Amino acid sequence: MTSTSLSADEVRKAVQQQAGKLLSQVAGFVGVRTVEIGLRLGLLEEIGKHTEGITTEDLARQVGFDPFYVQVWCRSAYAAEVLELAENGSYTLAPYMDKLLLDQDFPGYIGGLPLVIIQPEFFDRFGDNLPSGKQIWWDECSPEFIKGVSGTGQPFYTRLIPAGLAKVSGLSDRLEQGARVLEMACGAGIGLIRLAETYPKCSIVGVDGDAYSLKLVSDKLVEAGIQERVTLVESTLEDIQDAEEYDMVLINISMHECRDIEKVTRNVRRALKPDGYFIISDFPFPDSTQACRTVPARIMCGIQFFEALIGDQLLPTQAYVDLLGKHGYRNVGAFDLTPVHAVTYGQK
Ligand SMILES: C[S@@+](CC[C@H](N)C(=O)[O-])C[C@H]1O[C@@H](n2cnc3c(N)ncnc32)[C@H](O)[C@@H]1O
Repeated sequence: MTSTSLSADEVRKAVQQQAGKLLSQVAGFVGVRTVEIGLRLGLLEEIGKHTEGITTEDLARQVGFDPFYVQVWCRSAYAAEVLELAENGSYTLAPYMDKLLLDQDFPGYIGGLPLVIIQPEFFDRFGDNLPSGKQIWWDECSPEFIKGVSGTGQPFYTRLIPAGLAKVSGLSDRLEQGARVLEMACGAGIGLIRLAETYPKCSIVGVDGDAYSLKLVSDKLVEAGIQERVTLVESTLEDIQDAEEYDMVLINISMHECRDIEKVTRNVRRALKPDGYFIISDFPFPDSTQACRTVPARIMCGIQFFEALIGDQLLPTQAYVDLLGKHGYRNVGAFDLTPVHAVTYGQK
């Protein structure tokens, strides 16, 4: 039916429906900013300590903030369904918000997302560079952004190590018995520490092309007292030269960033011992534009803004399956751990 054949009432309803789609996006933006402020300024954490509820006046007193502003923030957090409000006027965290937003070790932790998505590296710089197509790289990203990415990567590691890896036949035994492991694009080092702590008999190498991230890792390794078991190498993945060295090569939310993905896949195969495992943990981007209208896909479409800035795009899982098959890996397979987290694996 064309718009000319619609009655005036039908047109009014259709316009309202379309306006609702736009306005729900604006409401989502308000919610993201509200959560981000609550996380950054410790309001959510403080409310979480008061399971019996806390009034805005008491909350303001506890955190030492302006009571009027605190009240405005609480109302918006309630509107976003992050807080609950009792009849006596006290607020509590809504169910499971403590886990989802505050518990960094929870496998479904998503508290890193609001903090990173508001960084200028996502939308501001994309908008600035959109006319020219000018690109950036990690060494032009702020420390806040790198910290934010690491916070977003953390639940990927929590899901992967050890439960996700245990789904790959034979891999857990090899790691538990003591293996040599390479983590490519190790970033700020959360994965290296998880691997070292989960598999105490393993020796681990972390490679990344960004010197600032490696400095963060090196401080963390000393703090965790595991600097002897983890070696750090500053290199692009395209330049890894090792041969028959590793029982497992792992890469978390970074395989899509390779400048030359074919070369990196060849490098990994050469670097693996016979029967060694290549594990790609990444976002499963939909394989068609038509499949992008889901909540996970919409978030991944947002991530694509930053990926565009650094000259790549997230890929569908099938692209990794095909890549490993093409390069002669055996026992290739893939599974989803969540709607935004897939694991692809293969053996040399
Ligand atoms: C999205 S971050 C992920 C970091 C870490 N794996 C995590 O999950 O927290 C991507 C990392 O890959 C590194 N990287 C991207 N492309 C690279 C390349 N071609 N060679 C070496 N490192 C690269 C960046 O420096 C950055 O630290």
